[in-house]
Amino acid sequence: MIKHVSVMPQKAIDLLKIKEDGVYVDGTLGRGGHSKLILERLKKGKLYCFDLDEEAIKESKEVLKEYDNVIYIHDNYMNMNKYVDQVDGILLDLGVSSPQFDEAVRGFSYRYDGPLDMRMDQSDELSAYEVVNEYDEERLAKVLYEYGEEKNAKRIARKIVEERPIETTLQLVEVIKKALPYKVLSKKGHPAKQSFQAIRIEVNHELDSLKHFLDSFDQILKVDGRVVIITFHSLEDKMVKYCFRRLSSVDDDKRIALRPEEVKQAPYELLNHGDKADKEEIENNSRAKSAIIRGVRKRYGKDSY
Ligand SMILES: C[S@@+](CC[C@H](N)C(=O)[O-])C[C@H]1O[C@@H](n2cnc3c(N)ncnc32)[C@H](O)[C@@H]1O
Repeated sequence: MIKHVSVMPQKAIDLLKIKEDGVYVDGTLGRGGHSKLILERLKKGKLYCFDLDEEAIKESKEVLKEYDNVIYIHDNYMNMNKYVDQVDGILLDLGVSSPQFDEAVRGFSYRYDGPLDMRMDQSDELSAYEVVNEYDEERLAKVLYEYGEEKNAKRIARKIVEERPIETTLQLVEVIKKALPYKVLSKKGHPAKQSFQAIRIEVNHELDSLKHFLDSFDQILKVDGRVVIITFHSLEDKMVKYCFRRLSSVDDDKRIALRPEEVKQAPYELLNHGDKADKEEIENNSRAKSAIIRGVRKRYGKDSY
């Protein structure tokens, strides 16, 4: 079984500051690593765990079998308001887990050959196959450029359209390589990494889920409740950073730098300014390299601001 090593576990727990009788949500259960740490600190409290991937839920039930205060929900974390109300803390550890990435059959990997799938939720209709084989050139280029920040998006999209049908992940890698100039191919890093990231984000509507969550979590968070989010690429981190910054400033429109006494009035308090994993963690877990963790604490309820 491929294991998943949780990123910045101690930092996440410190930022969440678990109350032993609190109600918590792990929006991205994965293999239950962060959930276990939360459960170890809960005495009378409860933990709601969400994942789009049924396999993640099945495996985590085994990891967390000693706990009877866990509720597993196979749904998008953006829908958590339908299931929970008034929680003390929410954790999101975004992106894919190592088993999803490393099992060829899931189609996320540019290293192993597998079907063009990339769906976190196996019951979704849209898979990477449709994005790669059915999107028109312009739409495909937009996906690659916006979600992968791929500078050669247009060239890659053109080549993909020329070479269709493309059936497997390694065929797609070859097509991407054909589209790229030697200068880019000779650089460090896998040449298909950004395109694969972009297609995965499109297939799983990842930014839409995050946006919906950021717009709605306030409704279910108790006063003094905390939200902690770990992101793995700049687009997600920017969304989290701007949302947390807006919530922690009084002047919503101008978002100006505030004097310390004004900052105290803001409905939320920033718990940090975006921390990264330390060198030792990155050496032991390469997934931690691009991770950024941010947290906020709610100071006042709606009626008070
Ligand atoms: C990085 S892993 C989480 C690992 C977990 N924190 C651990 O320590 O084991 C991300 C997980 O979130 C799930 N996921 C991603 N986006 C989701 C969403 N919008 N709703 C629910 N689950 C999601 C993925 O299927 C994956 O299992």
